[in-house]
Amino acid sequence: MIFDSHAHYNDDAFAADADEILASMPENNVGRIMNACAALGEMDRILELCRKFPFVYGSVGIHPEYAEKPGSSAEAAIKSFAADEKILAVGEIGLDYHYDEVPRDIQKECFDFQLSLAGELNLPVIIHDREAHKDCLDIASAHREVTGVFHCFSGSREMAREVLGLGYYIAFGGSLTFKNNVKTVEAAKYVPLDRIVVETDCPYLAPVPMRGKRNSSHYIRYVIDKLAEIKNTDRETIENITFENAERLFRIGGKI
Ligand code: NI
Repeated sequence: MIFDSHAHYNDDAFAADADEILASMPENNVGRIMNACAALGEMDRILELCRKFPFVYGSVGIHPEYAEKPGSSAEAAIKSFAADEKILAVGEIGLDYHYDEVPRDIQKECFDFQLSLAGELNLPVIIHDREAHKDCLDIASAHREVTGVFHCFSGSREMAREVLGLGYYIAFGGSLTFKNNVKTVEAAKYVPLDRIVVETDCPYLAPVPMRGKRNSSHYIRYVIDKLAEIKNTDRETIENITFENAERLFRIGGKI
């Protein structure tokens, strides 16, 4: 069975058919899905999906694109959503220097604050790092009590080494299949299998040969096939190991 460790079924792209698509997952070998939150306004829909589908889990957090100065109301909201038994992580949080929509100092402050909250709540984090590798590592390093996953990993082998050193998992998605993405393939070669999880980040980042289309967990098999090729093993081995890894990462069944 497959664990899609990062998806956004509350996205507008799924407004018409999220329920239908999700209902078709178990028969297509997708056994668990982490639906990641980007803004607190998404939480009602995320919880609705968690209630409806036993195999869907959620996270709560503020994506760097929506980062704001940390305050008591955000803190209270994150804590109350995190108390739900299906909310298993704080995320997605991090830094995005590609779009730079929010000033970097505010992104950093918001990231740092949510790492502290994750520490306090004893939850793993889902880190979004886009073109901000050094600052992400520096801030994550200041919270050694917290681990989680670097989602949609786009760093080098050297960066992977540092992320692993902090105790994090590394998630590979559609970009692993993109042509000329030598750096990510090199990183995937380097990361031991017991620290890898797979994801779609759907509706975004559909893998080759579906690139450009609306992504869904149905297409995660292309990422799994690519990983199997890189690791010189078969699809089933990758599916099983990444499933177990994601269960460990999100402590499925272990939330107090
Ligand atoms: Ni995402």
